[in-house]
Amino acid sequence: MEIRVVQGDIAQLESDCIVVNLFEGVSAPSGATGAVDQALGGAISRLIASGDFTGKAESAALLYTDGKIPSPRLLVVGLGKAEKFDLHGVRRASAVASKTLAKTGGVKNYATIVPGAGIAGLDVSQASQSMAEGALMALYQATQYKREQKPAGLDSCAVVEFSQEKLAEVTAGVARGEVIARSVHTARDLVSEPPNLLFPMELASRARKMAEKVGLKSTVLGEAAMREMGMNILLAVSKGSGHEAQFLILEHAPAGHEEEQPLICAGKGITFDTGGISLKPEAEMWRMKNDMGGAAAVIGALEAIGRLNLPRRVIGVAACVENMPDGLAFRPADIVTGMTGKTAEIISTDAEGRLVLADALAYVARFNPSAVVDLATLTGAVGVALGTVRGGLFANNEDLQAALMAAGERSGDKLWPFPMDKEYVEGIKSDMAEVKNSGGKGSGLSSSAKFLEHFTEGYPWAHLDIANMVWSDTEKGAENPKGATGYGVRLLVELASAI
Ligand code: BES
Ligand code: MN
Ligand code: ZN
Repeated sequence: MEIRVVQGDIAQLESDCIVVNLFEGVSAPSGATGAVDQALGGAISRLIASGDFTGKAESAALLYTDGKIPSPRLLVVGLGKAEKFDLHGVRRASAVASKTLAKTGGVKNYATIVPGAGIAGLDVSQASQSMAEGALMALYQATQYKREQKPAGLDSCAVVEFSQEKLAEVTAGVARGEVIARSVHTARDLVSEPPNLLFPMELASRARKMAEKVGLKSTVLGEAAMREMGMNILLAVSKGSGHEAQFLILEHAPAGHEEEQPLICAGKGITFDTGGISLKPEAEMWRMKNDMGGAAAVIGALEAIGRLNLPRRVIGVAACVENMPDGLAFRPADIVTGMTGKTAEIISTDAEGRLVLADALAYVARFNPSAVVDLATLTGAVGVALGTVRGGLFANNEDLQAALMAAGERSGDKLWPFPMDKEYVEGIKSDMAEVKNSGGKGSGLSSSAKFLEHFTEGYPWAHLDIANMVWSDTEKGAENPKGATGYGVRLLVELASAI
């Protein structure tokens, strides 16, 4: 769907449907909604009076305009209680509108105002951004492997703003929201792909193609280059796979910022996680195609950061590896030595994410980063703790932790902090090597982050365990259809804009 911004009076605009909004409990609509109500001889007021529509969040009612205004249909979308309304409410309401209209056979084009921009006192450009995000994110479908395509849905959306003064802000906000939503879809597409088709080389090559289009610098290291550099903890995970591991590096360095200390985003890119020799049970193994959700978030975020040309240097890296059992696969009890010379004992080949990230965290030290944030589908335990509402946050730096928490609240990709006490190292002390990759059940979720911390090199660092967030079996609000969520993209773009 294409989005454009036009100046004018929504009541006078011709489209398959116009969309207006209503707060809960309002009986006499004002603003643009009031103007449309008047043009329709009070149709919206009567709708409310009938009790059929109360303005509750996530509700919508379709009316027919009977030639009283140029557009044949009107969709009234509920915004919920005015005092609770925020940018998430804008995103949700806009998603409800586009999702509803995509299912309305006769509607291909619609026109909408920015929900709440006039009355709710929200920042106009931020509200416009949220509106574009919601409208596009709601329409995502992964139908590439169904030969019978679903109908295309919507062709275009006109965002109508009456006031000439607000037009520039609306235009800028919509443009930003559009870039972000399309980058969320890049991540969703990557996570949706099946593991037979999206193996490490394919993941890296798709990222490269994106980088070329956007104008990011990209480098991909193959196994020979990684061996040369001593990334043998990462390479151990790849030994059982017929697919060559790839280490992806994407860089956004706008003019004047080439030399600055970069923000680094590092993604776990396990294109399929069988568990290796510590084989996973059959039942839910198919989910492990999502085990590259961290890498997908990094790739999507760099796409948006590049397109928005954010004025700061950002580097994204992703460790792209497949974890398979095989005669040459690594095994429990193996001891491996990574890039820094630090040694690790393998207890479980299924704790592979922390292994590939160990060398990624060692590698990025060369950039003298201002901060490093890794995103990884690392543990089942994070979902036990947090459900599917927030990702887990572990940090060695308070400022970075606060910046990430704030970016999470603003973007909607929410996080929750976990402790990093030094005692959590006890569980992963090894008799044979400097550290072991699993402490077993009693060692706690934080011990996984302590393992990673062991391989960081003094820079501010945060680990985001997003195992519970990259896929959803159910719709999570109209802007998040079930399936791949693209979690992390909006978070990283927000972080890169803020620090
Ligand atoms: N990729 C999994 C974590 C995971 C589990 C992601 C469920 C999404 C849903 C990870 O590599 C893994 O296997 N973790 C183990 C670690 C354990 C062996 C220490 C886990 O959480 O069971
Ligand atoms: Mn695993
Ligand atoms: Zn894994």
